[in-house]
Amino acid sequence: MRQRVVLKWGGGLITEKGQLKTVREEVLNDLAQQIEQVMEEDIDVILVHGAGSFGHLKAKQYRLAEGHVEGATFDGPLTQDEAVTDVRNDMLALNEHVLNALTRLDISAVSLAPHQWARNTGPSFEGDLSLFRDAPKGIVVVTHGDVVDCDEPKRFGILSGDDLVVRLATELPGVNRLVFAMGGVEGVLSQPPGVSSEAYLIERLTENMFFEGEHAVEMDVTGGIGLKVNRGFLVHKQGIEVLLVSGEHAQRVTQACLGQQVRGTKLAS
Ligand code: IPE
Repeated sequence: MRQRVVLKWGGGLITEKGQLKTVREEVLNDLAQQIEQVMEEDIDVILVHGAGSFGHLKAKQYRLAEGHVEGATFDGPLTQDEAVTDVRNDMLALNEHVLNALTRLDISAVSLAPHQWARNTGPSFEGDLSLFRDAPKGIVVVTHGDVVDCDEPKRFGILSGDDLVVRLATELPGVNRLVFAMGGVEGVLSQPPGVSSEAYLIERLTENMFFEGEHAVEMDVTGGIGLKVNRGFLVHKQGIEVLLVSGEHAQRVTQACLGQQVRGTKLAS
């Protein structure tokens, strides 16, 4: 059967997280090359990317993760509805950078923005995955975290790439691996990066193991490392390998996608 890997590029990896709408072009180019290497091994890639500074800052400012907040005032000139449109457009702009990095290497790619095909948030969001399933071999299908429409009274909310990967990895045929490529960390650490010199990389993480994740609540509207691990275990339980690796060290993403020995965190039972 055709083999596939689901790969998430974290928003903190491909953008400068604290700097509004700034792409890390070199990182993108390097990551695109790693996808090329994976495809040379006849493995198709479903690519999901996060938002980083193209999504979180404005989503936080206008409380978009909470949905429509009646009568709220914000520290900025926009209404919530205008902010929804802005963040969607900003995500399309980031997605274009991602597609450009792929097409520069002659990788064929198509993109499906969730606000056009998905509804509601969390791992049980509604949406037709058949376009991913039926994509021709050799084409990278790309999607990303987004602001999606939600049922009343919320009206809209944030669908994280970490939720998208759960459904893509477990419902598409032929997926045997889910890889999270992250910025600034080598995997799941026992303590947040920089907090303690005693922090070590957890190479095999079981569900009952304790780790202290970093979550920059002041700017992150989704869930940080804790969300990835939680969603990762949903996938692991379906018999699919789940790895969290650094996207900033040459070859680790390729190695993880190909099932080779790699430095990082592997989810385990
Ligand atoms: C968040 O998506 C989407 C928006 C804020 C619009 P993710 O949860 O996948 O993004 P990252 O990886 O944390 O940046």
